[in-house]
Amino acid sequence: MTDTKLRVCTHARTYLMCQPEYFTVEYAINPWMDPGRPVDVALANQQWQGLGEVFRSLGHRVETIPPEPGLPDMVFAANGATVIDRKVLGAKFRHQERQPEAEAYLTWFRRRGYSEIRESAVVNEGEGDIVYARRAILAGYGFRSEQSVRDELTEFFGLPVISLRLVDPRFYHLDTALVVLDADTAAYYPAAFDDAGKAALATHFAELIEVKDEDAEVLGLNAISDGRNVVVPEQAAGLIAQLRSAGFEPVTVNLSELLKAGGGPKCCTLELR
Ligand code: ARG
Repeated sequence: MTDTKLRVCTHARTYLMCQPEYFTVEYAINPWMDPGRPVDVALANQQWQGLGEVFRSLGHRVETIPPEPGLPDMVFAANGATVIDRKVLGAKFRHQERQPEAEAYLTWFRRRGYSEIRESAVVNEGEGDIVYARRAILAGYGFRSEQSVRDELTEFFGLPVISLRLVDPRFYHLDTALVVLDADTAAYYPAAFDDAGKAALATHFAELIEVKDEDAEVLGLNAISDGRNVVVPEQAAGLIAQLRSAGFEPVTVNLSELLKAGGGPKCCTLELR
């Protein structure tokens, strides 16, 4: 007898992606980035195309924003904004190298007819740190986004905000340390959080999957769930097995070149809710 839950994808998703045409690692703003280590840009583009194909094969829609020269990290669309109920909160990047991306993403949303757009006064790196969890918004801080973005989030989206301090520099964005799998379930790397954060997560989620060091260290948690299918880095073998035994359907991708910038599949993806 097994009591594995039936996991369902409730609706087709729309994801925004940005082709890594101008991708490089030419500065280092997180511990993964080493400008001295070569990046295969053609392979990065192939891997990125593969991710888009995976989303389409699962029945989701993919939209794209044109990449801009001189913005090598613009491929990480998750950082471009926060989008809930067609409301868009603009990003404000911590590092000068990425700051122009905020306007590029805002321009895209304006042109696409999104009318409820708010520019943020507070440093926040979009859905890299701001994670929608249905009944609440989780907001990571400590390395990039400011904790004080919570007030803007509560006011603009009208949802309670759970602030989570990140404590390990390798997991500098919340989406490198946690993935929301469905309304009641998340997987996370406990060592990336402080005690208050771990307690808050245990209170919010009925089911919490704890991920091992070796899976976190390949950014295995930088995954995207539609409630059933979980697009996950193929290097995270342990997590893949955990997802399967929890009743999810892991769908693996390899974004090895983007990992050299500290990014994975979730970083390349902004869900347009
Ligand atoms: N090189 C980028 C940075 O350090 C990677 C961003 C990854 N994005 C994410 N959502 N975790 O800002």
